[in-house]
Amino acid sequence: MPAIGSYAPGKCILLGEHSVVYNRPAIAFPVTQLQAHAVVMPRPMIQSGEILVQAPDISLEADLDDLPSNHPLARAIHLTLAELQLIQIPAFLLRVTSTIPLAAGLGSSAAVSVAVIRAVSEFLGVRLSDEKVSHIAYKVEELHHGTPSGVDNAVIAYAQPVFYVRGHPIQYINISDPFTLIIANTGISSLTADAVADVRKLWQKNPAHTEKIFDSIASLVNLARHALEQGPASSLGPLLTQNHEYLREIKVSCPELDHLVKTALQAGALGAKLSGGGRGGNMIAIVEPQSADDVAQALRHAGATSTIITRVEPRR
Ligand code: PMV
Repeated sequence: MPAIGSYAPGKCILLGEHSVVYNRPAIAFPVTQLQAHAVVMPRPMIQSGEILVQAPDISLEADLDDLPSNHPLARAIHLTLAELQLIQIPAFLLRVTSTIPLAAGLGSSAAVSVAVIRAVSEFLGVRLSDEKVSHIAYKVEELHHGTPSGVDNAVIAYAQPVFYVRGHPIQYINISDPFTLIIANTGISSLTADAVADVRKLWQKNPAHTEKIFDSIASLVNLARHALEQGPASSLGPLLTQNHEYLREIKVSCPELDHLVKTALQAGALGAKLSGGGRGGNMIAIVEPQSADDVAQALRHAGATSTIITRVEPRR
């Protein structure tokens, strides 16, 4: 059996995080500059079924049997093996690496799961559909917070810009007008689970008001889809900035994110917002290509620990 490698991109939510948990739409796209890799190699002299897991980024080396069943890597492997229903599993080594920052809203956990699911299943001779890979990755995401919307695993497994509504078939977005986006990291790691839990408390306390905010975000997402499909992409800017205001209202921003959003706008961005769970992690700014370097530099001066300039293009 030859070694098999697989990779999965990071992701960025353009609009609609948090409200997507409450069945409103979100738009997300893959970020290929960031990647999780999984390689599966045979262990010819080792007894069948023995699986060694290495993840040097988190200093992990352990037999699968010694990992707790709620460890995300163990869960991804067990769910994949359960899906394949093989009678005998040869011994193998799984090695996982990733350039996607952890707890930063860029899809690190879902990308690792997708890469692992594909590498393990293909090593064992089965090519799973994108839908199946996405579904298994969703089951792993449930470990991180109980009510994931599924947007992360979907955009990463399909590796296409998507318009996502929980429980509905994935819809691809055909981008008509390419645009430039800056992704800037606050350097603050933040658990999506905590932000999602706090939004739930807010929703339980004041359902009518929170639902109204979610509806307003949904309207922005629908307008953004139209802007992406019909152009001009520059009209996305104010939609992003307005989405950020609503995210502030549901208290998932933080002073550092607000500061970077303000900085980007002052430096000439067309629009800016936090992206992902919030309370830290990353923000995004849509910019004219010629001002991308200046805005990125302003963001770094304002405290961003890293910036990525990415071009979002039509599907090929
Ligand atoms: O994983 P993150 O931090 O990109 O956040 C995912 C987006 C949320 O809407 C906050 C949660 C979800 O399950 O969709």
